[in-house]
Amino acid sequence: MNSKPLPKSVLWQDDKLYLLDQTKLPHVEEIFCCERIESVHEAICALRVRGAPAIGIAAAYGLVVGLTEHVSLSALRERVDYLVGARPTAVNLAWAVERVYRYAAAWAEKHDDQIPVALLCDEAKLIHSEDAASCRNIGLHGLPLITANSNWLTHCNAGALAVSELGTALAPFYTAADAGVQFHVYVDETRPLLQGARLTSFELGRAGILNTLICDNAAAHVMSLGKVDGVIVGADRIAANGDVANKIGTLGLAILCGYYDIPFYVAAPTSTIDLDTTDGKQILIEERSAHEVTTFGAAQVASLDTKVFNPAFDVTPSHLVKGIITEQGMTTAPFEQNLGRLFDVNSSTTH
Ligand code: MRU
Repeated sequence: MNSKPLPKSVLWQDDKLYLLDQTKLPHVEEIFCCERIESVHEAICALRVRGAPAIGIAAAYGLVVGLTEHVSLSALRERVDYLVGARPTAVNLAWAVERVYRYAAAWAEKHDDQIPVALLCDEAKLIHSEDAASCRNIGLHGLPLITANSNWLTHCNAGALAVSELGTALAPFYTAADAGVQFHVYVDETRPLLQGARLTSFELGRAGILNTLICDNAAAHVMSLGKVDGVIVGADRIAANGDVANKIGTLGLAILCGYYDIPFYVAAPTSTIDLDTTDGKQILIEERSAHEVTTFGAAQVASLDTKVFNPAFDVTPSHLVKGIITEQGMTTAPFEQNLGRLFDVNSSTTH
């Protein structure tokens, strides 16, 4: 086990925003300072910071980066719209910056149009610390699933690197490991950007959690051998009916789980649930550059003129989901009814 601590994906220190450049992991651990909102926008677009909650937290801080003293509500609106445009699928991004904006608008109504930047910064810090608490609770609610000697499979990276700490899909694993449970995780490599191979294996390995990397197309075979007891993935947006947008390839896994009768769980904070989106068909799926598919790492593998379709996410229909683990507990079908209930008791997370 490598005991070196995992660097934080997002760090606010001495009034400065620092991000871990995840495009360089696992070989280089480089933290850079964002001094302008444009560099926060670029970092989100280029996946230097990635994972739904982490981009929300980074963007909340990004709203105040480079500002001194005060900002007007109209200037803040422009900054919100600019950052929301960086990536369309993960609702946490819009959720976080709109929350800071709502806070600013309420303050401006009572006081003055010139809003103190320090107040906005405090709201961003609150979003950050609430995310950490959510992840810890997701870990605790998912813990009973991780029984002794069980084998799990996860896709993409919904770990500490994708949030404030611990992760969402990986939080139950970290919590179980802390409790001394022995288990094992299969990690999908997650083409095209290899978040599983580069990030999930890296962070699980660093925590001493037993894991095995597989090609995405090996998942069916591994399941057919009876080697997977359950799947846990994260989410970028969960519609009101329980349909789940997550990294491309998640839908295939959920269908396989249905075929092999393997429970398929989604772990996400309530900030990922978007009650304004009635079902998965309404979720805008980000399409990314052809270059990501025609290359493998630094190597060009397909000819440059190859026609490519590169959706970054897919939508898993709720009927394939056994349960959604949030900071409030495990939610099961009927999702339409039960997801709505989560917001009755926690008004700070409503959209
Ligand atoms: O494109 P990415 O790497 O940002 O995609 C990340 C995922 O799909 C994660 O599973 C999701 O954001 C949840 S992160 C806790």
